[in-house]
Amino acid sequence: MIEQLREIFSKALVSAFGEELAKVDPQVMPASNPRFGDYQVNVALSLAKQLQQNPRTIAQTIVQHAQLDGICYPPEIAGPGFINLTIKPEYIAQKIQAMAKDERLGVEKAKKPQKVVVDFSSPNIAKEMHVGHLRSTIIGDCIARLLEFRGHDVLRLNHVGDWGTQFGMLIAYLREEKPEALTTANAVDLGDLVTLYKQAKIKFDQDEEFREKARQEVVKLQNHDPESLKAWQLLCEQSRREFEKIYQLLDIKLIERGESFYNPWLPEVIKDLEAAGLLTEDQGAKCVFLEGFVNKEGKPLPLIVQKSDGGYNYATTDLAAIKYRVNYDKAERIIYVTDAGQANHFAQVFQAARRANLAPENVELVHVPFGLVLSEEGKKIKTREGESVKLKDLLYEAINRARKDLENRLAEEGRQESEEFISHVSKVIGLSAVKYADLSQNRTTDYRFSYDKMLALQGNTAPYLLYAYVRVQGIIRKGNINLDELNFEQPIVFTESAELTLAKHLIQLNDIIQEVERDLMPNRLCSYLFELSQKFNQFYDQCPILQAEERVKISRLILASLTAKTLKLGLSLLGIPVLERM
Ligand code: ARG
Repeated sequence: MIEQLREIFSKALVSAFGEELAKVDPQVMPASNPRFGDYQVNVALSLAKQLQQNPRTIAQTIVQHAQLDGICYPPEIAGPGFINLTIKPEYIAQKIQAMAKDERLGVEKAKKPQKVVVDFSSPNIAKEMHVGHLRSTIIGDCIARLLEFRGHDVLRLNHVGDWGTQFGMLIAYLREEKPEALTTANAVDLGDLVTLYKQAKIKFDQDEEFREKARQEVVKLQNHDPESLKAWQLLCEQSRREFEKIYQLLDIKLIERGESFYNPWLPEVIKDLEAAGLLTEDQGAKCVFLEGFVNKEGKPLPLIVQKSDGGYNYATTDLAAIKYRVNYDKAERIIYVTDAGQANHFAQVFQAARRANLAPENVELVHVPFGLVLSEEGKKIKTREGESVKLKDLLYEAINRARKDLENRLAEEGRQESEEFISHVSKVIGLSAVKYADLSQNRTTDYRFSYDKMLALQGNTAPYLLYAYVRVQGIIRKGNINLDELNFEQPIVFTESAELTLAKHLIQLNDIIQEVERDLMPNRLCSYLFELSQKFNQFYDQCPILQAEERVKISRLILASLTAKTLKLGLSLLGIPVLERM
């Protein structure tokens, strides 16, 4: 709808004021208040200076040139020069029909499909995957799904932290304490590995002799000593198996391309930086000084790309990764989903990549930052013993709680269900609740993890949305309706205000999806689906469906089934499957 109105008003601007305004954005948006209509056009206000006219007069002229016949009632000009639009119900009815007949529910494919890299999840070897990685996994997957649905060619990359000095430390320690872990698969599990890693770190910080051993191990590994490589591979596989369990549980698909993959290209990147005149030597280390980065004392802050011992850094790998993704993957948009704490890192890496021409102007580099996951009390999430919470435990806890809720509900309603039903439904509800709780927050803020809130049947939660879907399925079962036989040619009729309100909301789907594609804010899609469920529930309360006279019944069935399809599609883009019953 917005795109269509934008086109109409773009044309109106040109025919009213000439070609110079062809590139001006008419500023069409949903009405700030439904009392003023459905949409508003704000451009007249910002043109006042340029055109040297009163914005109300400008608004009037625009309206005279806007071809809105059949779409809107005559527009109203309000306040200093807002143009308020109310869409005609007949037009909305047409849109609903078109949507209901379309497999993609009116969501267009991108006019220019892009090759997009989504770099997400990206946990670290020999460390436990933590809640930050959970956020990255859930948000990244949602972004990838939405872009795929829009027809982009998405490469989902897991930039696993599988390289670095920590391996020297770990291998040196295992050689002393658990040599079998370096030669035999499955000799330790990830939990052991994490503990051993922590012990290694303590020893590393305390013991100079051990530090030297660790350094030698790093050198051996970097020189591709076969025995060291084998040990490293074993450690990676061990962690990978654990990560895989989480991905399976959450239905996440992604390709592992860890930091080590880019090792062969690191020296080249240093040369590129050198050639671009960006390298400075500082106490033996190679650094890049970038605009806008200073330390606390106001001195320029260097980005170290090669340490004095010749080793490379996290940033060097990211520069090599950009070069690779641009040149070999042909990426046109590269999206990084990490915690907000890495914002500076990416700002520096992006600037260095631009200035060294590793990423030309037409390649978009975007960091998608997110805030922390906190406990209900607003603190760091910990177990009762003060340990950090394992992801797997957290997910299973959600499933178990969903199961308890479900069993209580079944008992209250006197329902009998099979074990298969109960375990499937609890799993879907539990995992969906975790995903949805995360995605429905504005990702840039911290959010508090509360099982009770996310599992509630009321409020902006996954169960509430899933339940709206289930309701529609219930009506269809009860009325013995075959949706394939529904007469979609029959006009939609609006007899109650709740029908029109629902319909007006339904037709916004395409706009919302394109907005998320642009701004990468999944919470917008969540709000849309939540409001859709609310509007559907009001409609359901106010408008009998199966008992209505035939014409009204069919119209209402079309609205209800379109609501279900929209929920199913929207939820699938969030990585959430629907349930037929719950
Ligand atoms: N492994 C990193 C971490 O755990 C995240 C990597 C993000 N991706 C990237 N290209 N730097 O924080």
